[in-house]
Amino acid sequence: MTNNQTIEDVKNYWNKRPCNIRHSNKEVGTREYFDEVEKRKYFVEPHIPGFAEFEKWKGKNVMEIGCGLGTDTMSFLRSGARVTAIDLSKESVMMAEKRAEVFGLQDRVDFYVANAEKLDDVVPIKQYDLIYSFGVIHHTPHPEVVVEKIKKYLPKGGVFKMMVYYKFSWKVLWIIMRYGKFQFWKIKELVPKYSEAQVGSPVTFYYSRREVKKLLEGFEIKNIFVDHIFPFSIPEYKKYEYKKVWYFRFMPKSLFLLLEKMFGWHLCITAVKK
Ligand SMILES: C[S@@+](CC[C@H](N)C(=O)[O-])C[C@H]1O[C@@H](n2cnc3c(N)ncnc32)[C@H](O)[C@@H]1O
Repeated sequence: MTNNQTIEDVKNYWNKRPCNIRHSNKEVGTREYFDEVEKRKYFVEPHIPGFAEFEKWKGKNVMEIGCGLGTDTMSFLRSGARVTAIDLSKESVMMAEKRAEVFGLQDRVDFYVANAEKLDDVVPIKQYDLIYSFGVIHHTPHPEVVVEKIKKYLPKGGVFKMMVYYKFSWKVLWIIMRYGKFQFWKIKELVPKYSEAQVGSPVTFYYSRREVKKLLEGFEIKNIFVDHIFPFSIPEYKKYEYKKVWYFRFMPKSLFLLLEKMFGWHLCITAVKK
């Protein structure tokens, strides 16, 4: 995969609007704000706790790549893990740092503003039990470089959990239908443009299972699954109302869950270093 956008473009995009920053309309940086951000994130993406297995990492060393506002970082910390959290976006790291302070969790976490493609320039090398990265590696211009860097921080048998976007998903089809008027040949331009809440992500890759296996060379994949279809009407969602779009409203829940498992947007992988 190739991409002409630079890491500076990526950094500027996420600094301008850190991921999930509008998950609450309470005063930014307060306990109420962070509580609402967490509530909304796990309401909309309920598969995250099962995937991350937060409680399993009690007493372990966890590195999170691309922590954003730190929702999952806090969950690891609350479960008793010791965490190193990094993100390219200084704005995001500042928020996550503040969040750890607000909840009195700052003693067990080290934050770094760092480009994961140059991880070892900034983060001291030591061995971690888990490296976790949710929705991040597909946003960097050279995902394969990040995977190589991660290997330096994992012993043989160390666990790597990552979520990247899934190619054969409802979301990709929806973007092409809604914004591309079925111009499938414009997929590489359309998906990054409309993949996030804020239009114009400089880099968004998406993977098939086969492509992910190639990306994870040197790892043994232990579990791989697809999940997550966003069912809500966006104008209402922006007003913190959860009204499903009509075709999902009338769909039996069992069918919706099946569709999520087949054509979800999140390709979730648990792998161990060989
Ligand atoms: C979609 S957000 C996900 C944030 C968080 N993992 C979550 O689930 O809320 C993507 C994050 O990846 C970060 N990111 C993108 N490229 C990166 C890189 N090369 N190194 C470190 N972080 C990066 C962005 O700054 C942004 O905070």
